[in-house]
Amino acid sequence: MKIVFATNNKHKLDEIRNILGEKFEVLSLNDIDCHDDIPETGCTLEENARQKAEYIYNKYHCNVFADDTGLEVEALGGEPGVYSARYAAVKNPEAESHDSEANMTTLLRELEGKGNRKARFRTVICLILTPHSHFTLFEGIVEGEIIPERRGGEGFGYDPIFQPEGYDKTFAELGNDIKNTISHRARAVAKLSNYIKTL
Ligand code: IMP
Repeated sequence: MKIVFATNNKHKLDEIRNILGEKFEVLSLNDIDCHDDIPETGCTLEENARQKAEYIYNKYHCNVFADDTGLEVEALGGEPGVYSARYAAVKNPEAESHDSEANMTTLLRELEGKGNRKARFRTVICLILTPHSHFTLFEGIVEGEIIPERRGGEGFGYDPIFQPEGYDKTFAELGNDIKNTISHRARAVAKLSNYIKTL
């Protein structure tokens, strides 16, 4: 079965291809020659994942799934959430968008003086299969906390300041092998995989 994953992120594609195995041919946006700037204007992770999946489904009429992830910090009312990739720019319009260092600096500043440092990563995947256009959502969550200083050199995004529950190391210290067994994305992908393997 062919299925499009609405991304060109190689890490995400490798991860899902490994999990789904040979029964599924997972195609990237490049593979289907889609070079569009896919709109992502939702106010929630669910809306964004659905918007991306529907865009591809409506244009190409193929099996497709799309994902969206956010870091939700309890003391900040769930921020940066859907704005995780551009948090620094949201708080300061002069800052670069999609700059992980600036995003972490902004988050640490917002949390200064706050006792509650609980946070979670949440991934939502939206799946649409032909010939019906209805969608199914899958969610993966990893709970943890934001530590006050960066630690570790692996991973990306907020990994150096996120310590998952039950560990005394950040995602950036644990490395991808361990991270990929417990992460928000791995958990959402596992649910997607269980679902489509039963089809
Ligand atoms: P995306 O929806 O996967 O593109 O994720 C949106 C943003 O959330 C990214 O730009 C990162 O800032 C952050 N993010 C997503 N997943 C992770 C992760 O596994 N570790 C650290 N940051 C992440």
